[in-house]
Parts: sequence; C-alpha cells; structure tokens
Amino acid sequence: TELEWSADVARKGGFQHYMLKEIFEQPDAFANTLSVVKRCNEFIDQIRNAHSVTVVACGTSANASMVFSYLMERVCHIPTRVVLGSEFKYFPTPGTDLVIGVSQSGETADTIAALKLAKNLGAQTLAVTNVLGSSITRVASSVLYTRAGPEISVAATKSFISQVAAFMQITNLLSDHQIEFELAEIRRYLPDVLSLDLSKAVELCTAADTLLYIGRGMFYPVAMEGALKMKEISYIHAEGYAAGELKHGPFALLSPETPVIGMCFPDAVYPVMMSNLKEIKARSAPLIALGRKDDKDLDEVADVCISLPAVSEYGAVVLSSVILQQLAYHTAVALGRDVDMPRNLAKSVTVE
Ligand code: G6P
Repeated sequence: TELEWSADVARKGGFQHYMLKEIFEQPDAFANTLSVVKRCNEFIDQIRNAHSVTVVACGTSANASMVFSYLMERVCHIPTRVVLGSEFKYFPTPGTDLVIGVSQSGETADTIAALKLAKNLGAQTLAVTNVLGSSITRVASSVLYTRAGPEISVAATKSFISQVAAFMQITNLLSDHQIEFELAEIRRYLPDVLSLDLSKAVELCTAADTLLYIGRGMFYPVAMEGALKMKEISYIHAEGYAAGELKHGPFALLSPETPVIGMCFPDAVYPVMMSNLKEIKARSAPLIALGRKDDKDLDEVADVCISLPAVSEYGAVVLSSVILQQLAYHTAVALGRDVDMPRNLAKSVTVE
C-alpha cells in the first residue's frame, strides 16, 4: 500500500536504497570519525611505539587496512602488513608485537579468531570497529570506534570511508600533523562528488561481463574495493589489480567488451600510469579514467573521463572510492539487482 511505501522510503531518508542513503552520509561520517580519533590518544600511543604492525581484517575492512599500510609506511615509516583474518588464523605471521583487528561489525568470525590467536601468541592486540560492545572489543586490549553510525546495506560504504578517515587521522597524529591540510581538503570536497553524472560509465559497465580496476600505490586498494563493490551488488565479474601487474596475465582479457577503470592522478607514478592506460587503449579495451578535472592528456586517452576536483593524492583516494561506490550502485540499479540485499551475502559473517 502507499502507506507502507512511504514508511519504507522514510526509513531510507527519502532514498531508494539504504546503500544510496549511506553513500550520501559519507561527508558526515568522514568528518565525525576524524574528530573522534583525535581524542584516542591512548590507542594511538600504542601504535607509536610499535616496530611493525600487522592488521587482520576481511572484505572491505581488509581493503581499508591496505590503504592504512601504505599510509603507515610512507608517512610514519612503520612497516605495516595486512593479513586476511581467514589466513592469519591458520598461518600466523611471526614477529609482530602489535596486531590490529579491523571489523565494521566487530563480529566477523575469521577476524576475531585471528586476533585471539595473535593475543595467545603474545602480541598486543587493538581493534578498530564501528559497533559498540561487539565481540572484537572483548579480545582487544584497546578499541577505537569509528562511529560511522548504523550501516544497513550489505555492501559497506560509509563504514569503509570511516575506516579510511580513522587511518588517515591516526597517520596524521603519528606524523605530527603532516597531512592535516589534506584532511581538511577532503572534508571540503567530499560533498561535490556525490552527484556527478556517471551515466556514460554506467552504460559501459552494464554492457560488460568483466571489468578490470587498476591503480598504483594507495589506488591499488581503492581499485580492489571498487571491484569488490561492483561484483557484490551488480554480479558483474570485476577484479582490482595493481596497474603494473596487468602485463603479467590480465592483458589476455582485454577486448572491446572488457572495460578498464583506471585511477590516474598527478602523483609520482603519473607517467607510468599514463603509459599503462595507453597500452590498454592500444588493445582496444574501453577506458574509464578517474583523474583531475584539468588533465587534458587523460581526457584524450580515456573513452570516459570522470573528473575530480584538484585535490591531493590522499583526497583523490577518498573521492575516487566514493565515486566507485556510486558506479557500482548505479550499475546494479540499471541491471535491476537487489542492491541492499545481494544474493548469497550477509552483512556480518559469524561463521569461520
Ligand atoms: C561481509 C560483508 C562485507 C564486509 C565483510 C567484513 O562479507 O558483506 O561488506 O566487508 O563481511 O566485515 P566486517 O564487519 O568484519 O568489516
């Protein structure tokens, strides 16, 4: 009935799906997490004193953790590796004094088992989670709450952005505010990428059987998360790759039916990314490029260019992630998928 429809839409804040509502909540979630983490001195001090860090996580949380490992190594010079919870619990990596479990729900069995094992092996354990009092908080000696608010859609969006915000703020505080300016810039520009017209890119994606997402550095985990969002909710096969690895296999997949989504920003690897993109075009794959709006060269090589405001590399990491969520969302909607409840998936996986 009309009444039920209205109640449903009201619950979703006027949006058609929880996922879209949660995508739009990201500017608030990002800002909120930044300020929450500022007050977590005790948690941050424990990382400050570590010689190396191991992060255990699954799914989207593992992708956010990979962004963290790049930040930690580059800005803070602390060796940081990410191990999937399901691997660590059977094959624990030796020699880490500090293990951080990252889990939106705080209930993912593999991540919890990994963190428990780390604790039994004598490591100091920390947790990053979104859910107060969740199981992971009982394992860790210190907890950082991202406070993104409840996330209903199975596909993680704002919880990912909050994790990235937490990791960026941790990095900022550990490095004497080296990326303070970048964080302010992200807050300023995040709302601008919520309403970009992605229709041309969506059109290429809906027609595809396979999509390749590529990036280097921090854009490698961004690519993996973009591909994960796409396969989760649209059921199109998608893979995230480090751009330099394409020539070691995936090149064989390139064809006019295999669009490639590339992240290419004016950073240290810009020239090599550009040449990767040209190689892809030479093999006649349609190219969707995310880059800076003033980049004429990129515009020339790409079939569809998605233009971001002129922000720093850190800003581009966050803004690109949000754009790739929307690309997955609109593709899934165009294909008539059950966006909030994709088949065979659960919001939190409490079995190992
Ligand atoms: C499930 C969800 C994913 C999530 C993963 C890890 O597979 O569908 O969206 O990334 O679990 O969840 P966690 O709560 O530990 O972050």
